Amino acid sequence: MPKILVTGGLGYIGSHTVVELINAGYEPVIVDDLSNSNPKILDQITKITGVRPVFHQLDLCDEAGVNNLATAEGDIEGIIHFAASKAVGESVQKPLKYYRNNFYSLINLLNAYYGKPISFVFSSSCTVYGQPDHLPVDEAAPVKPAESPYGNTKQIAEEILRDMIASGANYKVISLRYFNPVGAHETALIGELPIGVPQNLIPFVTQTAIGKREKITVFGDDYNTPDGSCIRDYIHVVDLAKAHVAALKLMGKDFKGYDVFNLGTGKGNSVLEIIKAFENTTGVKLNYTIGPRREGDIEQVWGNVNKSKEKLHWQTELGIETMMASAWAWEKYLSQNPL
Ligand code: UD1
Repeated sequence: MPKILVTGGLGYIGSHTVVELINAGYEPVIVDDLSNSNPKILDQITKITGVRPVFHQLDLCDEAGVNNLATAEGDIEGIIHFAASKAVGESVQKPLKYYRNNFYSLINLLNAYYGKPISFVFSSSCTVYGQPDHLPVDEAAPVKPAESPYGNTKQIAEEILRDMIASGANYKVISLRYFNPVGAHETALIGELPIGVPQNLIPFVTQTAIGKREKITVFGDDYNTPDGSCIRDYIHVVDLAKAHVAALKLMGKDFKGYDVFNLGTGKGNSVLEIIKAFENTTGVKLNYTIGPRREGDIEQVWGNVNKSKEKLHWQTELGIETMMASAWAWEKYLSQNPL
């Protein structure tokens, strides 16, 4: 079985990807420092798949530790690199933490496996497009000046990878630009597990619905969109996870060098549409109010996913209802089975 190192493999997207790797016949090896994840997710992955992946608790900023890892796990065919700090607001407050965590880890990892013909998948973000000039935005659109240190780490990491490939390194690299991942696994055994107050829309919605939060605030209804609220391309996390398997498969064929793909549905939904979709799908009424705009928010963005369909041979299968129903099932599971 091809062995794949999954950094951040106990996180939200990482854990769903580990499950899809196992389903597709790969052997994932998880590396996670548990700074923003829960060790019990390993048990949950085991419940879903019947397989308990090897797990290394390691901070990838520890260069000697990463070199030891590369010795212990020398026979891997691929790396999927999720591990990174990802809170936009915190990155503005603590830029050095973000530049340190996100770059030291990437560079330690690339150095430790340098020279081996490894397929490397990087977690990038549609944040690199800022507010695009044309919608839907495709991969050829210009990268806009980053709105936050977090966004800057994604842009610069893409450049690091591109430069490394241009220098003739033996790696193959695909950067995946995620739109907005939401939802949870159909078993409701894994899902998004925010520590503290959620920053993202869907966990805030589900925590409000279950009564953990009093109400949800819609950040602005005076944007230049049909209902005035912001528009995003929400993608089911299981569809997103499967794209990582597709990227490994593509790199296993006659792929060379570096490429980048959008991961979205190709459709946009407003915040108010998401709230309605949640209410209609679950039958639970949400207590929400309209508040001011959130600083740094993009008005509207959704992706052109033609390149992913054609070259990655991947497209989304799950719609908004499944996204909402699965996120709600996970929140209910958590309320009965705190992790
Ligand atoms: C954010 C980041 C993005 C990052 C992603 C990681 C910004 C500007 N963008 O995406 O770079 O890759 O998180 O997870 O921060 N909303 C509300 N009320 C809430 C929460 C959110 O109305 O309580 C709205 C937001 O204004 C936005 C939409 O919901 O329009 C989605 O917000 P969120 O889930 O935070 O994702 P992004 O801001 O799109």
